Amino acid sequence: MSTINKNATQIVATVVSNKRVGQYHQLIINIGELAALCKPGNFVAINVGGENSRMILRRAFAISRVSTNTISGGTLELIVAPHGQGSRWLCSQSEGSTLDIVVPLGTAFGIPTEPVQALLVGGGYGSAPLFGLAEVLNAKGCRVDMLLGASTASKIYAPMEGKRAVNSLRIYTEDGSMGQSGRVTEPIKALIEDMNIAVIYSCGPMAMLSAIDAITRGTHVVHQCAVEESMACGIGICMTCVLPVADESGNIFMLRSCIDGPVMDGSFVQWDKVGEVL
Ligand SMILES: Cc1cc2nc3c(=O)[nH]c(=O)nc-3n(C[C@H](O)[C@H](O)[C@H](O)COP(=O)(O)OP(=O)(O)OC[C@H]3O[C@@H](n4cnc5c(N)ncnc54)[C@H](O)[C@@H]3O)c2cc1C
Ligand code: FES
Repeated sequence: MSTINKNATQIVATVVSNKRVGQYHQLIINIGELAALCKPGNFVAINVGGENSRMILRRAFAISRVSTNTISGGTLELIVAPHGQGSRWLCSQSEGSTLDIVVPLGTAFGIPTEPVQALLVGGGYGSAPLFGLAEVLNAKGCRVDMLLGASTASKIYAPMEGKRAVNSLRIYTEDGSMGQSGRVTEPIKALIEDMNIAVIYSCGPMAMLSAIDAITRGTHVVHQCAVEESMACGIGICMTCVLPVADESGNIFMLRSCIDGPVMDGSFVQWDKVGEVL
């Protein structure tokens, strides 16, 4: 049975900057030497609401990128969509505010030992952890192509500096306001046929992850996806985040996406049974 990420530590961290980027906020948070322990795929759990209106449950956010060579020692970047009460509170925190944060949590994307062709697929703010991942894959000598999709242009997060880590970047919006019109999953089948893709890394809405699984099933392509199941504790206690998965013999059991994930092998997830109590 898995246990909480052994590097997880609860700290009070300072917000270094908070910038609006399209419909998102880019938050840079000083986490000191813990930055060296964060890997692409890991997430953080933040106590939201402040002293006077603290909400019971922490909120989970994917670590977008880390920097270990800042004056303060280390920082991490989050890309936050101001959605409900908790994320709106987080987006309202200004430079110098402090946050009660547990970092790092969850599993990380597996990195190939040999240079391979990798396709990265991100939906909405799901693109955030993929740029940090692209940098790691690039350093391994992998060819890295990226597809980003969202309903509309302002929901695409594609930082200029992040683009340097990828060989190609294609953008898809459902309303055609940026890049090509349509869903980000549309070109994947042809790309698998035309290129020698060994692994797809994906992060975004569950429907997108499930659609990618349907395309890769029965092919040689490994699909590593970062699932986003609702999480209450984030540390393996409450079972809120369980997902049905099958082992190689077809036995179905539930895994906690906070400690057995969020990164999982997409071919084991029973996408049609997500949300059911088995
Ligand atoms: C692994 C993972 C990674 C994620 N990464 C990102 C990311 O990179 N960027 C991003 O923007 N979002 C991310 N999310 C989503 C994020 O965790 C939040 O769900 C989202 O920001 C909405 O939270 P909210 O508080 O704004 O919305 P709400 O709808 O207010 O709350 C979200 C959840 O908290 C519960 N809740 C609401 N109010 C309270 C309360 N008072 N006390 C206790 N619980 C309450 C709700 O029932 C709901 O389940 C991620 C989620 C997961 C699981
Ligand atoms: S969120 Fe509580 S067990 Fe995963």
